[in-house]
Amino acid sequence: MCEPEPYRIKVVEPLPRTTRRTRLKVLEQAGYNPFLIPARYVTLDLISDSGTGAMTEQQWAAMVRAREDFAGPATFDEFVAQARSITGFPYVQPVHQGRSAENILFRILLKRGQTVFANTHFETTRGNIEALGCRAVDLPSHDPEPPFLGNIDLQRLEARVARQKRAGLIILTLTSNIKGGQPVSLENIARTRRIARRHKIPLVLDASRFADNAYLIKENSTSKQSVRSICRRMFRCADIIYLSSKKDGLVNIGGFIAIRDKRLYETLRSEIIRQEGYPTSGGLAARDVAAMTLGLSDALDEDFLRVHIDRIRSLARMLRQNGVEVFEPAGGHAAVIFPANDSRYAAFALSARIYLEAGIRTGVFEESVRIAVPRRVYTRDHLEYVADRIGRAYRRERQGKRLRLKLAYRPAEFFNFFARFRTG
Ligand SMILES: Cc1ncc(COP(=O)(O)O)c(C=O)c1O
Repeated sequence: MCEPEPYRIKVVEPLPRTTRRTRLKVLEQAGYNPFLIPARYVTLDLISDSGTGAMTEQQWAAMVRAREDFAGPATFDEFVAQARSITGFPYVQPVHQGRSAENILFRILLKRGQTVFANTHFETTRGNIEALGCRAVDLPSHDPEPPFLGNIDLQRLEARVARQKRAGLIILTLTSNIKGGQPVSLENIARTRRIARRHKIPLVLDASRFADNAYLIKENSTSKQSVRSICRRMFRCADIIYLSSKKDGLVNIGGFIAIRDKRLYETLRSEIIRQEGYPTSGGLAARDVAAMTLGLSDALDEDFLRVHIDRIRSLARMLRQNGVEVFEPAGGHAAVIFPANDSRYAAFALSARIYLEAGIRTGVFEESVRIAVPRRVYTRDHLEYVADRIGRAYRRERQGKRLRLKLAYRPAEFFNFFARFRTG
């Protein structure tokens, strides 16, 4: 018997329904790329867990109550107090989302020609580093011990920073975005910090999925520590953290940067004025900051984390029972499945087939299909249906009734977001 969702539903949003004929037309117009399908033609949308979660009644109420003042709104002080108590960092700066944190931070921390090492760089992290003329090098652990598949390879990191005169930063992405969100262990974070200290390189955490990471650490620990205290231990290792609040932070827009050093904060504040907005808003409306304050503490609710992660695992299990090849272990925010055959662009073909058969949208990343689960949005029944329909689509692709895709447009950058295909 599985545990029920720890909330009940007060506001409902009807799901769009489409015919197979419409979906075929939509797919053709979208160049068989799921990112290019208009959302109004999607019945169940599992393309991303980012900014797609449902907020609580308290968050909506706080948004209505928030006063929109240009400078010094109460919402800012409340947010800073909340973020300080959860992260332990003294200086906290809201921003409008994760990638603006990256852009602003890297501009003040990096110099052209420097190298940044990470367990894995998320696409926008890499994009913002490379845009400054720097190099982003992934050093995922080669021989990771489950469950900590997100760890950085400490030996390679040590060797590379010792050799590399121009190491600018070390970044740990928690959870690592590969394979649906794989956790990084506390020991790996602490040892990375030691290397960073020894070589005088700042350690930055991209903590967009900090609560998933802490929960997965807790699950594999014998101690009875709370997720909140594990988060504090993770954050204690870092010089700087930033995050997109659109994931674990349980809001539709927002993010923040937290810093220990006063002078660096003052530099950051000026850059915020140039690029985001007045520092007490960080480019957000006061109402968004109010929602972020509550989302940040809701993120640590262990009943919610347990059920959310359990849903992803049971989705992976049901997919496997339906004959789908699934990455093991399932991550903290998504199940990842492998294409049903080895034809060119097979992951795009599988994602298109899933949409065609059932109106379910999935994402394509690194030659695999990612089924991300928005927080507090879909029920277990929805996910059971998803597993069943994906199983059917998978069998069709496997049985030779496959969609054969040819590349029709190759974008200069961000292939998975903008590529277009045709059949033939
Ligand atoms: C690990 C990670 N870092 C950074 C970002 C960028 O955040 P945002 O989408 O809020 O700009 C994302 C977005 O998905 C992410 O997954």
